[in-house]
Amino acid sequence: MRIDVLTLFPEMFDALNSSLTGRAREKGLYELHCHNIRDYSKDRHKKCDDAPFGGGAGMVMMPQPIHDCICAVDPDHTAKRIYMSPRGKVLNQRFVQELSRERHLLILCGHYEGVDQRVLDMDIDLEVSIGDYVLSGGEIPAMAVIDSVLRYVPDVLGNSESTVDESFSGQLLEYPQYTRPQEFCGIPVPEVLVSGDHAKVDKWRYEQSVEITRKNRPDLLENK
Ligand code: ADE
Repeated sequence: MRIDVLTLFPEMFDALNSSLTGRAREKGLYELHCHNIRDYSKDRHKKCDDAPFGGGAGMVMMPQPIHDCICAVDPDHTAKRIYMSPRGKVLNQRFVQELSRERHLLILCGHYEGVDQRVLDMDIDLEVSIGDYVLSGGEIPAMAVIDSVLRYVPDVLGNSESTVDESFSGQLLEYPQYTRPQEFCGIPVPEVLVSGDHAKVDKWRYEQSVEITRKNRPDLLENK
C-alpha cells in the first residue's frame, strides 16, 4: 500500500516511525510520503490560508496550494482521496477494513477553520471523521486512520490472528488480558486462565466480553 499525506505539518508524522507502523515501513510493507502543502503555494510569502468570505472566526485554507499538491501527487487520480474532517463519515472497524483494501490512499489534513469547499468538491472522494469531537487539525486523525488500516495490511501484524479476537471485529469488546506474574500486589489472575481447560477459558472470555460490552457500549449489543 502507498499512502500520501498532504499537510502543513509533515513533521508530526515522524510519530509513525515508531512501533508497528515504523516496523512495517522498514520492512517495506507500505510506503508513506508526506507532502508539505506550503511548498505548492504560489504566494510570495507561501501563504496558505485566508479569512473566510462572509466573515466569521478563524482562517480557511486556500484552494490553490492544495489543488496543485493533489495534482502533483496523484495526477491520474488512482488514489482514494480522503479529507480528514469532523463532518465526515465516522470511522469504525468495518470502514477501516474497507480502506485497507485500497492500494493507494491520499489523505488531506486540514487546519484552522477548514478548507475551501471548491477544492473538496473538485478533488476529494471521501470525508472521514474519527469521532464526534473536534481536534485542531487533521494530522492526528490521519495517523489514527493510517495505524488502524495498516493492521489489516498483510504481514504488518506479527501474528495474523491478532485482528480476529480484538474489540469490534465481532461486535464485542475485548476480554481482559493478564500476564506474569501470576500474583501482583496481592491480586491473583483469574483461576480459570491457569486451569489449562481451553473450553472453559473461551467461555470465560466470551462472558467477560459480553459483560464489558453491556457496561461500556450497550449499543453494540442492540445491533446484533
Ligand atoms: N479534524 C478535526 N477534528 C477531526 C475529527 N474528529 N475527525 C477527523 N478530522 C478531524
